[in-house]
Amino acid sequence: MEENGFRPKGFPELKNDTFLRAAWGEETDYTPVWCMRQAGRYLPEFRETRAAQDFFSTCRSPEACCELTLQQPVPYSLQPLRRFPLDAAIIFSDILVVPQALGMEVTMVPGKGPSFPEPLREERDLERLRDPAVVASELDYVFQAITLTRQRLAGRVPLIGFAGAPWTLMTYMVEGGGSSTMAQAKRWLYQRPQASHQLLHILTDALVPYLVGQVAAGAQALQLFESHAGHLGPQLFTKFALPYICDVAKRVKAGLQKAGLAPVPMIIFAKDGHFALEELAQAGYEVVGLDWTVAPKKARERVGKMVTLQGNLDPCALYASKEEIGRLVQQMLDDFGPQRYIANLGHGLYPDMDPEHVGAFVDAVHKHSRLLHQN
Ligand code: CP3
Repeated sequence: MEENGFRPKGFPELKNDTFLRAAWGEETDYTPVWCMRQAGRYLPEFRETRAAQDFFSTCRSPEACCELTLQQPVPYSLQPLRRFPLDAAIIFSDILVVPQALGMEVTMVPGKGPSFPEPLREERDLERLRDPAVVASELDYVFQAITLTRQRLAGRVPLIGFAGAPWTLMTYMVEGGGSSTMAQAKRWLYQRPQASHQLLHILTDALVPYLVGQVAAGAQALQLFESHAGHLGPQLFTKFALPYICDVAKRVKAGLQKAGLAPVPMIIFAKDGHFALEELAQAGYEVVGLDWTVAPKKARERVGKMVTLQGNLDPCALYASKEEIGRLVQQMLDDFGPQRYIANLGHGLYPDMDPEHVGAFVDAVHKHSRLLHQN
């Protein structure tokens, strides 16, 4: 690739647009399917490639990210794409590259997860953060990975870009890593509401050009992960998460238009945020992702055909036999109904899951949904 040459005008023609059609609410012949955390963790190929490198160095290498993305089982011999006929690929990266680009140190500790040696403790720690306007250029390596991957995908399936939502990123920046209670981050909300809003604004300002940049680089859909929505409950969610989720969608759409880029469907996945389902359906996203604690029929009753729903098989159901997976998928598809629906798990795959069972999940969605769509 030549200098500045990673934003070519022409990408290979898209051959399977089922995922995009469902996301936009158009009719499809079958239900498209992809899996959160499909990019590798459970595949032996991933563990072999990954073993050689530090996680965030991998994220900084467009070649490595491209290779790991193509491990997703989309049709053809590419990694998860190399194994099963998924209907979308998600770029290999991480939500924590944004706090890094804002100047925070983050490491991935094997067996433990992400760790921030110097989390935000005091209000004045916000001064340590870089100007959010520099984030998109800091994350140019992600854009390069997206462009390269979009080319190498050769139009087999659409490529999804993503980011963490402001509240979820704030939890990591304040907690310094994972937490079962989010007590430090929630302490900020109660003790320092103004500083919390300031931080959430900074994150929103960083995310908007980052997401627009992903589309400019070749992403064909965007998913925002609000993985820690459930820790908030309705009141805090309304105050500290939802307004920023709405703002991101609104500003990304305006940003795409301003840049002369075609709109892309946006997905909001607020894990354990079922209390806010109606609000999420009106937050400016074409697709609402559901975790497995929501009954599909009830979710559909609550949002109608206003948005496309995505989800929501319990990832642990993949520990069941292939026959049982088939039965569970059938029930899920019957309950969501054939249109305005993208099949997925209710959260990510776990590293010890059997790729064959992931394949059984994907096949069951395709097989059963074709029957449903015929009726
Ligand atoms: O399909 C994919 O895996 C696509 C790429 C992707 C990664 N992280 C790569 C990754 C995506 C979409 C993410 C999102 C992400 N990262 C989220 C939101 C989704 C969710 O799970 O709720 C969150 C909260 C993170 C932060 C993060 N990254 C944690 C908590 C961990 C450690 C625990 C875990 O899930 O493995 C990571 C590590 C991580 N991110 C790995 C990968 C492939 C594993 C790295 C390794 O094994 O060394």
